[in-house]
Amino acid sequence: MTDKESVVLVVSGSIAAYKAAELARALMELGLDVRVAMTRAAERFITPLTFEALTGGRVLRAGFPEPGEPPMEHITFTRGARLVLAAPATADLIARMAGGLADDNVTSMLLATDLPVIVAPAMNVMMYRHPATQSNIALLASRGVMFVGPEAGELACGDEGEGRLARIPQIITAVREKLSLGDDLAGRKLLITAGGTREPIDAARYIGNRSSGKMGVALAHAAARRGARVTLVAGVMDVEPPANVETVRVESAAAMLDEVERRFPGVDALVMAAAVADYRAEQVSGHKVKKTKRWDLPLVENTDILGRMAERRQSQILAGFAAETHDVEAAGREKLLRKNLDMIVINDVSRADIGFGADENEVTILTRQGAPERVTKAPKERVADAILDRLVVLINNRKRRGEAAG
Ligand code: CTP
Repeated sequence: MTDKESVVLVVSGSIAAYKAAELARALMELGLDVRVAMTRAAERFITPLTFEALTGGRVLRAGFPEPGEPPMEHITFTRGARLVLAAPATADLIARMAGGLADDNVTSMLLATDLPVIVAPAMNVMMYRHPATQSNIALLASRGVMFVGPEAGELACGDEGEGRLARIPQIITAVREKLSLGDDLAGRKLLITAGGTREPIDAARYIGNRSSGKMGVALAHAAARRGARVTLVAGVMDVEPPANVETVRVESAAAMLDEVERRFPGVDALVMAAAVADYRAEQVSGHKVKKTKRWDLPLVENTDILGRMAERRQSQILAGFAAETHDVEAAGREKLLRKNLDMIVINDVSRADIGFGADENEVTILTRQGAPERVTKAPKERVADAILDRLVVLINNRKRRGEAAG
């Protein structure tokens, strides 16, 4: 048993069933315990083992229990959970739910619970539009079931129309809403960069750095958990991006600048956690340069992304990171002012136990007003929350200023 809140994820037999693995991960990233139940048809698309490996828990399968298996699991499986989420939900599952059927372990479980239910349908457009499906949906909605999607678009069968499973962030938003999870960044758009950049020097080689991306990913994850719509511009990272944020992959500093610049106008804040190369090769050979005794490699300065965005800002909050080795606070304050930022997070990279590649970090947060805040050594997730606590205040104050002026 854990003290985490639990949700029951019911997966049924749609081609979108593979997306349920990513959905389970996104739910877990909200801090939820995920219990998975699968219909028979779902097992044709994805295996229980996938979910057991992901969630660490037993999957409830459709077949009625064999001798020796827990006999009452259709009753006990939802106990203590906060919510049932059926995603993807086929026309058949929706029909069985509407009809109150209990013809297998999964539908029996659905009938034996009074938890709130969210359904994310996924099916062919004709099946979705069929009056039978539409009246089943209307009936379930009248009983308080919440529907997310489906979306319109190209379907697996080649048809065009409604029937695609809602996007994962949309489903996550519905879950957050139902569970009233903390959402002090709800309605905010954040642009976060993470990882290191690679600057090509010839067709095979590049200049890189040791950034792991862990701090930026922790920030993106925490911001999404707190309700923000996050776009992560990810350079080269040792870790996977969170499932519930939109991620754009880049390699070079120039590509990162392009992606940031394009998205910057619509966001509330830009957090530059990426380790951006300060220099790039003046000339990049299109072939692999042959070995010689000496290679003089002229480097030219890259555009400072934060500096460029500071020139373009309207009301966006700008937060940067400073990797310093000595007199770290003074160096950080100098950078905060020089780069015209609202916040700077200072890392002492002379210490091996924190910073690059480590799971923990210890930082000092500086803003233009207010005292420096020292966040003592903690997992990067905790540090991310401390940074976001300050960012929320900066965003909210800015809005209030804007409103007063307007
Ligand atoms: N940064 C950026 N664009 C660059 C280089 C850095 O936006 N081309 C951002 C980083 O993401 C970080 C902040 O600037 O948030 C500080 O980067 P850092 O390299 O420590 O500072 P510099 O301004 O390069 O100063 P110096 O190397 O002299 O310490």
